[in-house]
Amino acid sequence: MIRLGVNIDHVATLREARRIAEPDPSWAVVLAELGGADQITLHLREDRRHIRDEDLAKILRIASVPVNLEMAITEEMLRIATAARPHCATLVPEKRQEVTTEGGLAVAGQETAVGEAVAALNEAGISVGLFVDPDPEQLEASAACGAHAVELHTGTYCAAVGAAAVAVELGRLQSAAVRAAELGLAVHAGHGLNVRNVAPVARISQVEELNIGHALIGRAVFLGLQAAVAEMKEILKVEAARR
Ligand code: PXP
Repeated sequence: MIRLGVNIDHVATLREARRIAEPDPSWAVVLAELGGADQITLHLREDRRHIRDEDLAKILRIASVPVNLEMAITEEMLRIATAARPHCATLVPEKRQEVTTEGGLAVAGQETAVGEAVAALNEAGISVGLFVDPDPEQLEASAACGAHAVELHTGTYCAAVGAAAVAVELGRLQSAAVRAAELGLAVHAGHGLNVRNVAPVARISQVEELNIGHALIGRAVFLGLQAAVAEMKEILKVEAARR
């Protein structure tokens, strides 16, 4: 079975569109769990454009599944994470102007800084994944940093147009999953996944966890969040059985 991490950031995006108290992303935690979420994922961004510090604290109190904090490697975020102690953290690059995370973390060439962040989080009992492009150089550097997992960036695969381009990007993800597992890294994947493109990724046998946000929250507008999560879980169950 593949774990499904439900990223609830965009419930907070909707709240921030009005800068009022609703909808509260913690409500999404309960419904995602009822739909079968194995993990709640949230990204506390430097600019606090969606999730706020108080959301993280509240969600850590109420979630009955593990909480995965996506975070940039900054002193502030390391201080917040080591104090809050989520179950796991995924280190991501962050640029203020971006609409969403663009590209994976450049681990290669930054092994010292990334390794120190991994060590500080591990020290606080937090297991650490690195969000990286499906590139062998990044995988090797991730293993060298002592990360527990890599989350393979599926955004380029999801954005590929035409069967040939999709096949090339899927091939990169498949090869990266094999290489990451050889390096002893747990393999996660995410970004841009939805009910139409998730199946081939879910069929990659090394993939243990997918983190999905925007498409689930978008679908929840029409189906409800519990149903949208349950629908995705069912797809993952079917595809994992076909591995
Ligand atoms: N994984 C990581 C590391 C991310 O930064 C994001 C976006 O916050 C996601 C997964 C989820 O991406 P999406 O919202 O496109 O499903």
